[in-house]
Amino acid sequence: MFTIETNPTASVEESYHELNAQLAALLSGERDFICNAAQFSAFVMQTVADLNWSGFYFSRGEELVLGPYVGKVACTRIPFGRGVCGKAATSLQTQRIEDVHAFEGHIACDAASASEVVIPIVVEGKLIAVFDMDSPKVGRFSDLDQAGLETLVATFIEATDFSWSI
Ligand code: SME
Repeated sequence: MFTIETNPTASVEESYHELNAQLAALLSGERDFICNAAQFSAFVMQTVADLNWSGFYFSRGEELVLGPYVGKVACTRIPFGRGVCGKAATSLQTQRIEDVHAFEGHIACDAASASEVVIPIVVEGKLIAVFDMDSPKVGRFSDLDQAGLETLVATFIEATDFSWSI
């Protein structure tokens, strides 16, 4: 059994630093893309407070297709440029949305979602996937959360073999 330690007195930066070390340990010894994507989705859902969805959309042609995730059933395909995920895919920039209801074109998979972060996964210059997190709280994600979550995604990328998917 892999036990995840959380420290309630740590600062946001310290928390992500500690989580990142535990994530590296969790993913060590396994490089399969689907396996690590599933573990990573669950790890984030289990350790980051106030999330209602955590998971992947894989880049397939000109659209995103639902991958491993934790949360309620979700829309399966998102064209590039549509919604928050599609914007992350075309811009290759993290999208951090304070209030999804104020984001024109937001795709509501779970009506409870109020704020969202989507981080593109780019390997050797190619978009492989986006990693999406939803929260039922408006403004859940600060710039420190964004930086911490980007570090976790970087560790996932480092731990994973994408060669068959590129
Ligand atoms: N809200 C996303 C769609 C995916 S779900 O949140 C899981 C979007 O606007 O792209």
